[in-house]
Amino acid sequence: MTLKLLRIVGARPQFMQAKPLRQELEKRGHNEILVHTGQHYDDTMSRKFFVDLDLPEADINLGVGSGNHGEQTARMIEGIEAHLLANKYDAVVVDGDTNSTLAGALAAAKLHVPVVHIEAGMRSYDKKMPEEINRILTDHISNLLFCPSQISCCNLATEGITDGVYVVGDLLAQCFTEFRHKAKALVGNNFKKYGLEEGQYILLTLHRAENVDQMERIEAYLSAISTSPWPVVWPIHPRTEKGLARFKLDCIVREKPFVIIPPVGYLEMLALESASIKILTDSGGVQREAYHWRKPGMILRDSTEWSEIVDTGWASLYLPGQDPMRLWDIPDVSILNQRDLYGSTEVAARIVDIMEDTFL
Ligand code: UD1
Ligand code: UDP
Repeated sequence: MTLKLLRIVGARPQFMQAKPLRQELEKRGHNEILVHTGQHYDDTMSRKFFVDLDLPEADINLGVGSGNHGEQTARMIEGIEAHLLANKYDAVVVDGDTNSTLAGALAAAKLHVPVVHIEAGMRSYDKKMPEEINRILTDHISNLLFCPSQISCCNLATEGITDGVYVVGDLLAQCFTEFRHKAKALVGNNFKKYGLEEGQYILLTLHRAENVDQMERIEAYLSAISTSPWPVVWPIHPRTEKGLARFKLDCIVREKPFVIIPPVGYLEMLALESASIKILTDSGGVQREAYHWRKPGMILRDSTEWSEIVDTGWASLYLPGQDPMRLWDIPDVSILNQRDLYGSTEVAARIVDIMEDTFL
């Protein structure tokens, strides 16, 4: 007996989470049809990751592109629904909290196809974030919920969700574990092209809507970061690049200490992370990777769903308007707890074991 699954991806971090699961399903002879919603579509936001990860091209690309939340999500639902009406699956598998996640879950649940949510139970308790709405709704219509940590499992219990909930670890962490050595090999070459010295720069990413769509907020962050004593290399997300141009802030980031570069592929990103002094980010994935490299992190947000990283002292939250000198403190990480906070091996195997028990 084999599983037949429809796997939905669409935004950059979802390609990394797709890889270890695909490998495990293939190893056991299961059938996974990969749908790319087309939410991310630039080569640097999509194709590059399939190459770096050696992930086969999606079986179906819905090509929805960008748009307001309603129109973008609706186009995805329409495409996924049409496919589900014509084909039979044991389950639809989604991960994380993007519009592609919600669209896959909604299309499936309305047709009574079981929904599997990977990275379930994450909460920022800030409903102004589109991701928080996507995750709450997805969790409440999912049949199997795979949590990365005990805290996320407790969050679900607080909302009355206890059936089908399993703590399995973090798929992004498994992907990191499998690619870190390959990425490390890129370190030397990369830095020369950006004029950076290994171990002599800060890495920055900033793309969340609540940060970069508000002029005062992004301006406050940029003004604080501009006090950096080290170069700040910043692979810039297209949303941010457009925001900076709209707010006429692009001239600030063309000057030192900023080293603006286009979005980089996964291996190059891991390489940049591994040789940085410190990582400043509002990304869910990058804050976890900073921790996996055991680098000090600064989370440029009001709150984080990955609270274990802050609770253990590996990162701090930094809000606009706070003392910029806080950004450049380098804590003594040797005194911090080195224990793995999120399961980072065998995560896909645990997920597939449970799906086999449930659906076969
Ligand atoms: C989405 C997710 C966010 C995740 C991020 C990962 C939602 C609601 N948000 O945010 O949780 O952290 O992906 O990177 O799903 N654009 C391009 N080229 C592309 C893709 C986007 O130019 O290939 C530009 C477009 O102007 C678009 C804007 O970026 O309007 C935002 O893209 P969108 O996919 O809507 O949201 P992200 O900010 O990428
Ligand atoms: N990433 C990348 N290149 C970049 C920026 C990020 O490869 O220029 C990777 C990063 O290493 C992590 C993932 O993309 O694996 C995180 O995605 P992103 O920050 O876009 O979204 P989030 O995790 O906040 O949803």
